[in-house]
Amino acid sequence: MPRMPMIERLYRTPVVQAVAKKAGLPEPPRLVRGRIYPTLPIALATPGGGRLAADTLTLLGLSPTEALRDVPDARTQGEDGRAKPPAYPTKLGALVLDVTGLRTIDELELVRQVLRPAVRALGNGGRVIVVARTETTLDDLEAISVQHSFDGIMRTIGKELRAGATANLLWTLPETTPADLASTFSFLLQGRSAYVDGQAWTIGHADTPVLSDQPYAGRIVVVTGSARGIGAAISRTFARDGATVVGVDMPASGEGLAAVMNEIKGSALQLDISTPEAGARIAAHVTSRYGDDARVFAIVHCAGILRDKLVANMDEKLWAAVLKVNLASQFAMDDALLDGRPGGIADGGRILTISSTSGWAGSRGQTNYAAAKSALIGRVRALAPRLAPRGITVNAVAPGFIVTDMTASIPFLEREMFSRMNSAQQGGKPVDVAETLAYLADPASQAVTGQVVRVCGQAILGA
Ligand SMILES: NC(=O)c1ccc[n+]([C@@H]2O[C@H](COP(=O)([O-])OP(=O)(O)OC[C@H]3O[C@@H](n4cnc5c(N)ncnc54)[C@H](O)[C@@H]3O)[C@@H](O)[C@H]2O)c1
Repeated sequence: MPRMPMIERLYRTPVVQAVAKKAGLPEPPRLVRGRIYPTLPIALATPGGGRLAADTLTLLGLSPTEALRDVPDARTQGEDGRAKPPAYPTKLGALVLDVTGLRTIDELELVRQVLRPAVRALGNGGRVIVVARTETTLDDLEAISVQHSFDGIMRTIGKELRAGATANLLWTLPETTPADLASTFSFLLQGRSAYVDGQAWTIGHADTPVLSDQPYAGRIVVVTGSARGIGAAISRTFARDGATVVGVDMPASGEGLAAVMNEIKGSALQLDISTPEAGARIAAHVTSRYGDDARVFAIVHCAGILRDKLVANMDEKLWAAVLKVNLASQFAMDDALLDGRPGGIADGGRILTISSTSGWAGSRGQTNYAAAKSALIGRVRALAPRLAPRGITVNAVAPGFIVTDMTASIPFLEREMFSRMNSAQQGGKPVDVAETLAYLADPASQAVTGQVVRVCGQAILGA
């Protein structure tokens, strides 16, 4: 089992907890992680009459209860004489809100009516999932504006929720089917999405296979930077879900790489990904290890480095090193792996990369890093439609503050401050990034491409 990171062990010690309490820092809520659905009831609301969310829950074998509505007749009088909104008999595990049918400003009142009682009833680690319609598929200006209002509504709810509860929004197309949405619903309802909060992304339409618990059985997944930190967690998570993992890392990290790959019965490839022949070396490893017909199902570009300096002090070496490892290497590897060679990426495969909230919002001292991480976002969006004819999806995660060896170099107080500047009031774990990538790469996520999902607990930075 991986050990709890140093910073977290330190935080859990009585001395540090006492100091944090004295400094007025509340203990962050414990996030419930893993492949488990909420045990508490799921409430469903469909103001406007949309069917997409209801049919998706049915497909997943989940039976929601009808959401209560805060209308005058349903209110009761409290002991203080004030009218109280209707109350659910138990805590709720989730509220699923399908607003795809809403078109007018007046109809937004229907949304308030279901939100008020449901948000009051949401239990620890509860979920709010809003399913809306992508505005570009609508003609009417009022309908477009009304659909866009859910961006602000969802992000605000995310900031108001406590106790590890999250709110996220899914944009859908008229063609999006329950099968297209199922993997995303499953991910959002389960503990796998514990640190994904306040985010919105689009679910399109594709020929989507049925959801499975071992989606990667019989599939090869390459993970770069897998000797430690986030890359090691990604390797373990894909292996848990059935993948044969090829772990790639620097020769100097060979020992750590071998330990992770032995643990998950993967294979290790010691390689500097910034060398021009890196893609060819990966393909050659795959065929020599798994046979001439073997192909890569997914590559997860995780290896990355930091060389921070204020731009006033940034020399060409620091600049070039970060752009080479964090950006240019991905172009070169993908070019080689996509050219149809044995051991390359199969049609119907996946390309995944790790951006960063620094690439989204900028970060002092990180022009080189932010350039690379921002460029990756542009690349994902542009590459997805180009590879769609081959059935290959391209997606990214943008982690916020994740507790790893990379962040351990930040001074304690600064680290404590950064890690709490989000709705979850804590840093994330490598497994949070890994679970999101495993969801995006899932064969059942075929309708999700060109997306960037932040894994940041709804960080204030760049929110
Ligand atoms: N930790 C965070 O808070 C955070 C936040 C946002 C994004 N990220 C991104 O997540 C990824 C992983 O971060 P981490 O915190 O686990 O980092 P880490 O430093 O703990 O691990 C990075 C791994 O990449 C390997 N690597 C570096 N250069 C390489 C090269 N040229 N060839 C092969 N392997 C190489 C390293 O040996 C190491 O094992 C990076 O891309 C990073 O930019 C991390």
